[in-house]
Amino acid sequence: MEILKWRVLPLLSLLVSFLFFYIKTSSKSSTSDCSLLPYDDYWISSKRIVTPNGIISGAVEVKGGNIVSIVETEDLNEKFGSARVIDYGEAIVMPGLIDVHAHLDEPGRAEWEGFSSGTKAAAAGGITTLIDMPLNSHPSTISEETLRLKIEAAEDKLYVDVGFWGGLVPENAFNTSALEGLLNAGVLGLKSFMCPSGINDFPMTNSSHIKEGLHVLAKYKRPLLVHAEIQVDTESHRELQDGIGDARSYSTYLRTRPPSWEEAAVRELLTVTKDTRTGWPAEGAHLHIVHLSDARYSLDLIKEAKSNGDSLTVETCPHYLAFSAEEIQDGDTRFKCAPPIRDENNKEKLWEALMEGHIDMLSSDHSPTIPELKLFNEGDFLRAWGGISSLQFVLPVTWSYGKKYGMSLDQLASLWSERPAKLAGLEFKGAVATGNHADIVVWEPDAEFELDENHATYHKHPSISAYMGRRLSGRVLATFVRGNLVYSEGKHATTACGVPILAK
Ligand SMILES: *[C@@H]1O[C@H](CO)[C@@H](O)[C@H](O)[C@H]1NC(C)=O
Ligand SMILES: *[C@@H]1O[C@H](CO)[C@@H](O)[C@H](O)[C@H]1NC(C)=O
Ligand SMILES: [Zn+2]
Repeated sequence: MEILKWRVLPLLSLLVSFLFFYIKTSSKSSTSDCSLLPYDDYWISSKRIVTPNGIISGAVEVKGGNIVSIVETEDLNEKFGSARVIDYGEAIVMPGLIDVHAHLDEPGRAEWEGFSSGTKAAAAGGITTLIDMPLNSHPSTISEETLRLKIEAAEDKLYVDVGFWGGLVPENAFNTSALEGLLNAGVLGLKSFMCPSGINDFPMTNSSHIKEGLHVLAKYKRPLLVHAEIQVDTESHRELQDGIGDARSYSTYLRTRPPSWEEAAVRELLTVTKDTRTGWPAEGAHLHIVHLSDARYSLDLIKEAKSNGDSLTVETCPHYLAFSAEEIQDGDTRFKCAPPIRDENNKEKLWEALMEGHIDMLSSDHSPTIPELKLFNEGDFLRAWGGISSLQFVLPVTWSYGKKYGMSLDQLASLWSERPAKLAGLEFKGAVATGNHADIVVWEPDAEFELDENHATYHKHPSISAYMGRRLSGRVLATFVRGNLVYSEGKHATTACGVPILAK
């Protein structure tokens, strides 16, 4: 017994120290935990790679997180010999999606979404970068200090890369040093509202604030994103405020936010976007209208301003393209958002504008909350939280509906990657091109699936998504962020190695 003990003990302690050493070194060399691949030097091959020069059959070489070469080749096996090749066959290899409009709500409202669940959902949906909105977190990101809180809250929780918009609010709009502090701290641009935001510490701005913001942004060459609705006091609006109308009926809600609100806001914006023209006082600044819903007069005004040389872009969201007011059932507040989803005819016009290039890009406007605030029991459209949960689904949704309108893979990549990258100033993202970050989504366009409770959904609250119950096509196989395979076939990398993107 004694002898055994004396022999075993040193052996045991040797084993323990080895184990300790192993754990220490493996947690240090975190590259392997950041990726589901044990190496960072490899080729991704496929018959359909979406590049800025068209769709090719070939392979993308990834080394140290970047795309170092792209080759077109018929016979991959011969060329590569012993190189590591991940062959995706007929699946599409495309630049990862860049979502310039997502609300992850942390710090302060992590129970609504949070960086961890939100970026896991993004990775599972083929989104490799998202830009977080300055509100629905608490506090809102409106100063250097509050941006710091964001970055701290995001630490070790990002499965994809995340940038931040700052808020333009009355409190900082006339204070150049406050705005410069926020911009110097790294926000990629600013965001403001022309109507109440629904969040107390994020008050709305008027055109004077916006003009000031644009003048500061001009120096930084960063954009201002604007929620373009102005409350216009119409007859039906007054009636509704007086309690006339069934709050469970979607049409009641729709009448509270008519297209004239969007039109009034765009009209007002165009009085200040003039300044962004070449040779004008805010040259270098750019105005971006978020989530356009009105495809009629608002869009006409936007087209006109663009043709006059205003530095202006506009996005819409999949929910305005997938749904129409007519199909929204009484009490189904999953569909409440602002501006509202409008009628079928408006939807067709939005598609037309998108396909003709008048709408520049798409974004999710993923804006979740806790299920309780959706008031499913009452089904009250006027009091329920407004916001559609969609982050993980935007690729299959855009594709499922878009292919009926003839959307090509090039258009998809332009709307979801190339143009969003340009808006956010992301120099090395947005295209499968040599020298760029290896931010890539691999997906099967023809694979259909049912979005039900059996579908692995990573949003914190899947049940509140308006897309549940739909049948979609477009299954994400793999997502690479800076060369790390962060998601593959239902599995995430064990360590969250996405980085905060700060403007310099
Ligand atoms: C402007 O903002 C700075 C913080 O960057 C603050 O110290 C200063 O008091 C503000 N000025 C005014 C007039 O509010
Ligand atoms: C915007 O609001 C500010 C007060 O924050 C006010 O001084 C300014 O005159 C307003 N501008 C317009 C166009 O209403
Ligand atoms: Zn939003």
